[in-house]
Amino acid sequence: MNTIAVRVAVADAIAQDIRLLRLEPQDGTSLPNWNPGSHIDLHLGQGITRQYSLCGPHGDTSGYQVAVKLEPTSRGGSKFVHESLEIGSELRISAPRNHFEMSANAGHTLLVAGGIGITPIISMARALGAKQQQFELLYFSRSDRHAAFRDELEAGPLQASCRLLFGLEHDAVEEVLESALNDRYEDSHLYLCGPKAFMDTVRAVADRCGWPEDAVHLEYFAGADPTDQGTQTSFDVKLARSGKVLTIPADKTIVDMLRVEGVEVETSCEQGVCGTCVTRVLDGVPEHHDCFLTAQEQRQGDCMAVCISRSKSKLLVLDL
Ligand code: FES
Repeated sequence: MNTIAVRVAVADAIAQDIRLLRLEPQDGTSLPNWNPGSHIDLHLGQGITRQYSLCGPHGDTSGYQVAVKLEPTSRGGSKFVHESLEIGSELRISAPRNHFEMSANAGHTLLVAGGIGITPIISMARALGAKQQQFELLYFSRSDRHAAFRDELEAGPLQASCRLLFGLEHDAVEEVLESALNDRYEDSHLYLCGPKAFMDTVRAVADRCGWPEDAVHLEYFAGADPTDQGTQTSFDVKLARSGKVLTIPADKTIVDMLRVEGVEVETSCEQGVCGTCVTRVLDGVPEHHDCFLTAQEQRQGDCMAVCISRSKSKLLVLDL
């Protein structure tokens, strides 16, 4: 995959445990265009690649901004960003990809962010604000100190459409959501991003309030650990193009075994979040562990995230 050489131009703490980086191209040219909801890969060395949503000014291609939360259980990515990168550090990034695009036809947009899930959401809010489209943003954060972009959301031009909610318990979160999600306009769309438990709560409330599946758009920023999927069994994968059959042991992923065989498959997050590795299933029944495919796509079963998902049938035939 082609990557872009960038240099850290700004590295600022913008809230407790959240560091904002501005990355500018090393050759002084422009970066590729991007839309709200886009993310990039940061290649952090030693084989560590992490995805972060772009959260800078809408349409800015002179530099990209990402905001990274220091995760207490960091597997190296956020710790590296917080402790090892400084102004002038050089690294490589991918071009932006967008799996969380806003619908062009929404009459009204409801944006819901939990914690660092504000990063794709603030780009959406700015874009809607610039186009003077109707939206409402609910931003749930542990405390005011943990809230990123607080000045802009509380006092800037977006203020009238934004509600910041600090330190609410689960029941209070549900109450706020119930009142915001009730009485949906016919053409409303909901975009949400945050920790998995928070997203599950928002989805459950949306479901209760009658939001159709195709009006609810999600972006997970952390998926499951492929090595932590409970007790697994082995299964076989047939590669349709060569006819080769691989056995996937209980403690390995399909991607692991494809690599052993020298079969190229593009990956990025390897946590079932980004969708880069999604592959067509020609036969067999996948057991989905990703949080990228929609519930409907998972039910259909004709594609799967091979970095994390497994098989319910003894054999899967993949379009590889
Ligand atoms: S590599 Fe991201 S979903 Fe598989």
